[in-house]
Parts: sequence; C-alpha cells; structure tokens
Amino acid sequence: MGLVPYMGGDELIKKDIVRLLPPADIFIEGFGGSGAVSIEVARRRMYRKVIWNDKDTYLYYIWYYMKYEPDRFIPKLALMLSNLTKMTKEEWLEFKNKVVKRMLDLINREALPPFTGALVYAYILYGMSIPYEGGIMRKREKLRTVEYYINFLRRRAEWIKDIEILNRDIFELLDEYDKEGVVFYLDPPHIIKKNGYIRTGYYRISFKIKDARRFSRKLAEIKNAKILLKLSETDLPYYPEVREKYQMHVLRYISMASQKKGKKRYYFFTNYEIMRKDLLAILLYNYSSSGETV
Ligand SMILES: C[S@@+](CC[C@H](N)C(=O)[O-])C[C@H]1O[C@@H](n2cnc3c(N)ncnc32)[C@H](O)[C@@H]1O
Repeated sequence: MGLVPYMGGDELIKKDIVRLLPPADIFIEGFGGSGAVSIEVARRRMYRKVIWNDKDTYLYYIWYYMKYEPDRFIPKLALMLSNLTKMTKEEWLEFKNKVVKRMLDLINREALPPFTGALVYAYILYGMSIPYEGGIMRKREKLRTVEYYINFLRRRAEWIKDIEILNRDIFELLDEYDKEGVVFYLDPPHIIKKNGYIRTGYYRISFKIKDARRFSRKLAEIKNAKILLKLSETDLPYYPEVREKYQMHVLRYISMASQKKGKKRYYFFTNYEIMRKDLLAILLYNYSSSGETV
C-alpha cells in the first residue's frame, strides 16, 4: 500500500514494476506520490538506500510528520478521520462541497503552515480519497474509532521509517544522482487534455506539454543512472527521444478507477536491458484483486 490514497497510485501494478527494476545500490522514486513502489522495495530490502521524492510540498509534509513526528501528527489526524465517519451522507456531501473546497483552496495557495497543511491535506486524501473518490465514506458505512485510525496510521508510519524523503524538483535530482549504482523509478504526471488539477482528479503539480518535452530530452541525456520510466498512451507523443533511445515494455492492466473501468496499457521504458523471461512473467501476472488475468 502507499502511504496515502493517491490518484494514479501504483498499488495494483507494483509487483510488475518491481520485476522490471535492475540491481543497484540506491533506489529513487522521483515522482513519489503515495510511494507504493518505494514502500514495496524497502519492504523487500532490495536496495541499500531507498529515497522517496515529490515536489508537492504538502505531500512531502505528510511524509515528514508521519516519519519524524508521528506521535504529534497521528492522534490529531486519527481524531479528524474518526469524526468524519460519524457524518450522515448528507452532512458529508455538504462538507465535501463546501469545507473541502475551501481547504484545497488554502492548500493550493500554499497558505497553511507545514503542520496544519499536512494535517488538512492528509485528511482530504485519506478521508475523501480526493482525487480518486473512493474514500472512507464510499467504502464503508460503520463508525470507526480514534484508536482504529491511530493503529491504521501507525502501521503506515512504520512502513516508511527506513525511507529517506526529499522535496525536490526532478530535474535537479536527476543531475545530482546521475551516477553508477543508482536506479530511478519515474512516474511523471500524465499529460491530460483537460485542465489537470486536483479537483478534477489530478495532482497539484502537473506536467504541461513543454515539461514533458523537456523531461524526455533530459532522460535521453542520462549517462550513468539506470532509469525505469512509466508512461501512459497519451504521454507517448511527447517523449520521442525516450522512444528512440530506451527499450519499451508494454503492460496491460485492469483499471480500477471508478469512472474508467476496463483494460488499459502502461508503457514502461528502460535505459537498460530486461531479460525476456522477466517480461513473460509480467504479461502472465494474474491480478488477484480484480480476479482477471491480463
Ligand atoms: C503520477 S504521480 C506519481 C504517483 C506514484 N507513482 C504513486 O504510486 O502514487 C506524479 C507525482 O509527481 C509529482 N511531481 C510533479 N512535478 C514534479 C517535479 N517536477 N519533480 C518532482 N515531482 C513532481 C506530483 O506532485 C505527483 O505526486
């Protein structure tokens, strides 16, 4: 699981991603998000050092307080989440439309101090599962106690205790860590034709076409680090340099996102060779959660 519920989280395909990863000393998840892959590789002790990075400052603050100040952060968040489960559906809808909008607005204007901002953003992500709208109130009806959420959050804090966390721009990070023994897993914000913003279901920091183009050129210049890049179909036209220089591996998967059920593809690119037997394992992977074989 990731640390927080997150749009485009890699939870369902993390085992496929792990199979594509090469041996290395340091693993860096450059567009960290929920950190599903960082948590998985840390759990399996695949690398000496695991680094999670995301440019979204408030997402970073959630990781920061969960990791370094869990005793201060977790009880407060647990109380807020538990209270949320006491609302009726009508109260919740009103709350979602009025209060949450205002909270997101404050976050998007970077108007909240770190601790408060982390609490509010975590509350929104866990409670509403904005952006992906499958949150507490959708999944279950019964009340949950503060203790329940304290345990729930403490388990998650435990998962990230050996992971280093950074709040950097990917372009700087690639320059700094383009070294032998480093592997980057990169899942950039996808190019979406609609306005990509958290309220419409996407990240606070997204990629414009010019960012994707710059990123593609940057990846083509990487000399020493190993790169595993994940793209969706809509990204492909903006990454010609990567398509020319990198090896491509297609992964078909079942989308669990509520609005767009159905078969989709991810396009993985590596600047290192992947053995055929690994690819076969990926294609035959059985999605136990959806019960369908891809
Ligand atoms: C597709 S999501 C990653 C989701 C992640 N794989 C997961 O499993 O949750 C992209 C992330 O990149 C972050 N991001 C956007 N621009 C960035 C940049 N220039 N440098 C670092 N992170 C960035 C966003 O904040 C967002 O969390």
